[in-house]
Amino acid sequence: MSDRGAGGLFISFEGIDGSGKSTQARLLHEHLIAEGHDVLLTREPGGSPGAEEIRALLLSGGVDRWSPETEMLLFTAARRDHLERTIRPALAGGQIVICDRFADSTRMYQGLRGVDLRGRVEALHDLMIGQEPDVTLLIDMDAAEGLSRATARGGGEDRFEAFGAELQAAMRQGFLALAKEFARRFRVIDGARPADVVARDVRAAVVERMG
Ligand code: ADP
Ligand code: TYD
Repeated sequence: MSDRGAGGLFISFEGIDGSGKSTQARLLHEHLIAEGHDVLLTREPGGSPGAEEIRALLLSGGVDRWSPETEMLLFTAARRDHLERTIRPALAGGQIVICDRFADSTRMYQGLRGVDLRGRVEALHDLMIGQEPDVTLLIDMDAAEGLSRATARGGGEDRFEAFGAELQAAMRQGFLALAKEFARRFRVIDGARPADVVARDVRAAVVERMG
């Protein structure tokens, strides 16, 4: 399912809640636009009208609203729509796509919440998505600091933040392990620094990948 166009490049940002992904995705988007590139900034869950509707189902309500298995299906349904309608057409048109979270978030947020869920996440991904980013920027951050940043931000989409500090800490370690598992596409960036300093490392990683 590799529909990459000639100039297309697929970049994802990953990390725990509050690590600064959205801030860094926006700064990278602004920078690449200023450099004259054709760039699309998008996010998950969401990024297409149908997927944005699924986002609203996923991010509001109590922690028990969905089981991890149901979540896995909903996130994957949203991702499939996002891929079909937004990401693949953009890559085929030669655009750089910057995506705030992608399949690695499902590997962590759903895959770490029960025995053998990670295996089922991988199976569903292979069956229905089958595409990975060209480069994944992991914004690494202390779990408690990330959670307090995310909580301070507010906004109502707080169902996952309500899972608490312990899960957030497991996610951080999980993301670092994932970066080793998929070492070819991952770059780990220390997010506990001023945003402009983090942004400089992000740009360097992307330039290296663009070669
Ligand atoms: P994420 O998308 O990973 O949840 P955000 O980019 O939304 O993170 O950032 C979470 C909060 O932390 C926001 O209020 C944002 O302004 C702030 N923030 C982002 N980057 C930094 C940074 N490097 N230092 C301090 N605060 C930051
Ligand atoms: P996001 O809006 O990126 O939240 P934040 O800015 O706080 O990082 O994502 C919303 C929540 O959805 C976040 O807590 C992580 C969760 N999520 C999953 O559980 N699985 C997924 O596949 C994705 C893409 C997100």
